[in-house]
Amino acid sequence: MIIGSLVSNPKAVEIQRDKALRGYNTLALQARAQAFVTVSSEEELLAALAQARELKLPLVPLGEGSNVVLAGDVDALVLRQRCRGIQVLELGKDSVTLRVAAGENWHEFVHWALQQGYYGLENLALIPGTVGAAPIQNIGAYGVELCTTLQHVHAREIADGSAVSLANEDCQFGYRDSIFKRELRDRYVITAIDLQLSRRADVTTTYPALTTYFGEHPHIEVTPQAVFDAVVAIRRSKLPDPAVVPNAGSFFKNPVIDAQVAAALLASHPDLPCFPQHDGSVKVSAAWMIERCGWKGFRRDNVGVHEQHALVLVNYGSDSGAQLLALAREIALSVQNAYRILLEIEPRVYGAA
Ligand code: FAD
Ligand code: EPU
Repeated sequence: MIIGSLVSNPKAVEIQRDKALRGYNTLALQARAQAFVTVSSEEELLAALAQARELKLPLVPLGEGSNVVLAGDVDALVLRQRCRGIQVLELGKDSVTLRVAAGENWHEFVHWALQQGYYGLENLALIPGTVGAAPIQNIGAYGVELCTTLQHVHAREIADGSAVSLANEDCQFGYRDSIFKRELRDRYVITAIDLQLSRRADVTTTYPALTTYFGEHPHIEVTPQAVFDAVVAIRRSKLPDPAVVPNAGSFFKNPVIDAQVAAALLASHPDLPCFPQHDGSVKVSAAWMIERCGWKGFRRDNVGVHEQHALVLVNYGSDSGAQLLALAREIALSVQNAYRILLEIEPRVYGAA
């Protein structure tokens, strides 16, 4: 049902009411949005923000719904960001600066960049979702994070539509973290990001799974295309395709702990995978601990833990995020009992649990 459209605006936006969200989140959870709108231009975005104010509804930006858990209905105007476009801002001998609209699909953009000879994103291939969501948790995989190439984030203030631009250092990026998850949570709709990519074919292959892959395929020349192909192959071998088995990727973050705590853990569990961080802390594998607690492949009713990856919770047909969250709490409790480590949920939870 359409409850509002801005007839005075040439780019009128259609606000739908009581919209079913199952098709808009990769966990395929059933929940309803009080209101829903898709925007494909900055003008439509501004019109939608004005509508949210008029309807006195909070606004929830949504990309492809690959990092959300809908625990219940969403009492908000859910705004699906679909603005597209890639612009070359500066083409240098060694680098290129691009502006990429928030509604572009991340993996398609990574593939496009590689084909142009713009390098640096190969390790981030096949991450689901939109470009606009990428800065929210500073997406990362296989030894690379978005923040190594990101220069600016462009956004609109939800409260009044005003334009803002944040430089990389303003975003306070960290592991699966940024200012958009903390001080600036729910303040902006991201409209575009600027990235500086390399025109030199340098590659990053230090992540253990990539080292192993190229060790097992010594005949493959290690080019950016080969890294892209390797990342796609590794991901396909262990992460379920959400179109086949609904999931939201890693359900928990890998805990980052004090070096002394890590040393004590390693003394009793020498094969716990550990990744030392620049600041001296240590990132430890949540998947390893969850697997050792016996959860890998676990299934109860319509929810469970993936057989190939213990960090991925899957939805076998449950309507409600509440069941998944209950399972997540049980898993976290067992890890806490076994290792004295607290697991933190990675996706954003919406709706009452
Ligand atoms: P959504 O799920 O739609 O939104 C996520 C959050 O971002 C929400 O809070 C939403 O409000 C906010 N948001 C979205 N768009 C905007 C915008 N334009 N402006 C403001 N806020 C916005 N992540 C990794 O980092 N590394 C991985 O390797 C990885 N692998 C994954 C594998 C699978 C199979 C799946 C399902 C997920 C994986 N993820 C991974 C998580 C996910 O792909 C990323 O978090 C992605 O950036 C989410 O994009 P999205 O468009 O689907 O965001
Ligand atoms: N492991 C297990 N059991 C498992 C799975 C993995 O013991 O069931 C062990 C592996 O043997 C390996 C270690 O855990 O030694 C790390 O595994 P993997 O390389 O698969 O990475 P991860 O830590 O489980 C993280 C990200 C992924 C990202 C990969 C690759 C987080 C929360 N997850 O997973 O991101 O793709 O590294 O860089 O940081 C996501 O965020 O949704 C996501 C999939």
